[in-house]
Amino acid sequence: MTDLFELDYQPLLPAKRDYGIAIVGCGGIVNYAHLPAYRKHNLNVVGCYDIRRENAEKAAQTYYIPRVYASLEEILSDPEVVIVDIAVQPWHQAAIARQAIAAGKHLLCQKPLSDTFSEAVSIVQQARAAGVKLAVNQQMRWDPGIRATAALIRKGWIGEPTDATIQVSVATPWEMWPWLAKVPRLEVMYHSIHYIDSIRYLFGDPAWVTSRHARSPLQGDVVGETKTITVLDYSSGLQVLIAVNHYNQTDDQFAIFRFIGTEGVINGTIGLMYNYPHGRPDTLCWSSKRHYPDKRFESKLEGLWIPDAFIGPMASLMQAIQEDGTPETDGADNLNTLRIVNAAYLSASENRSVQPAEIT
Ligand SMILES: NC(=O)c1ccc[n+]([C@@H]2O[C@H](COP(=O)([O-])OP(=O)(O)OC[C@H]3O[C@@H](n4cnc5c(N)ncnc54)[C@H](O)[C@@H]3O)[C@@H](O)[C@H]2O)c1
Repeated sequence: MTDLFELDYQPLLPAKRDYGIAIVGCGGIVNYAHLPAYRKHNLNVVGCYDIRRENAEKAAQTYYIPRVYASLEEILSDPEVVIVDIAVQPWHQAAIARQAIAAGKHLLCQKPLSDTFSEAVSIVQQARAAGVKLAVNQQMRWDPGIRATAALIRKGWIGEPTDATIQVSVATPWEMWPWLAKVPRLEVMYHSIHYIDSIRYLFGDPAWVTSRHARSPLQGDVVGETKTITVLDYSSGLQVLIAVNHYNQTDDQFAIFRFIGTEGVINGTIGLMYNYPHGRPDTLCWSSKRHYPDKRFESKLEGLWIPDAFIGPMASLMQAIQEDGTPETDGADNLNTLRIVNAAYLSASENRSVQPAEIT
């Protein structure tokens, strides 16, 4: 029975984890997520590179990285580098990924793999043809609340899932990403993509995507949509609602999830979204008609979606390299997340529901 309560939500670390990692792009996310997570687990970051050399030097100094490369070519010709970890804007990512694949390096790419679906497909095809592993940094799958939810669902606590909701209504500090203010497709492409990927991790692929996008009167000259509602319908009857508002400036901000099944319910909070990027631990409560029907359970979870969950995609990539297996957030799988993201934009622009297979 104790096994029933074992939430095993911490990322599994592979036996071998001293693969040489080179970072390309040393901006915000690398400094407050990739490098803190890798340092905590003693990963072997051999060097870093940024077109703005001062950014690479600063990261190297802060995180004791032995080498600052002068070019991408230097990285690719360094035999110590096994994994190229890319963290640049998506429109710069493809060119770097292509060169790294041609040099036979394995890759961890940032999300979105590309802001153009056909480009993402071609990167994935090129990696497959070259026999290199390509994982995408969809680390929310390793967020403690999401991972623990997966364990509870696997152990049958809620029976057959029927309704899932992720609702986030916060004041997002957009000034952390000045470049995002200018992108035409913002909320789903850069933020809800995490919720979509987590929902796919928990429940698989939906049959239909319906999405509505809006601007907030508070968003000033931020170009893209900042308030979205996306509904995913599954052939099983499962319905998913993802509703996000990045301009809730009130004192009632929330980031909650609720997963209901035929026999139970799991609900919790996404701690990171309370005061991003400092956050607080996720919370998790559940109850079940199947197990201990008179009780309601709570778990204290450790670790945050950022930075702690960042060890997940890298660890899974390393595991795939040593077993010649497939990373959990493999590029080919990620195309299905991108299909839903792109289906959401098609749905919003054409005022209709879209099947993911329409995105080719
Ligand atoms: N997984 C997550 O939770 C998460 C969170 C935030 C950002 N991101 C993603 O990470 C990526 C980077 O975001 P950021 O906020 O760190 O941006 P940023 O602008 O802070 O950093 C990007 C860095 O890349 C460098 N760069 C740009 N083009 C380059 C090139 N061709 N070669 C080498 N360096 C180059 C820039 O000089 C900059 O230092 C984006 O794709 C974003 O979507 C993911």
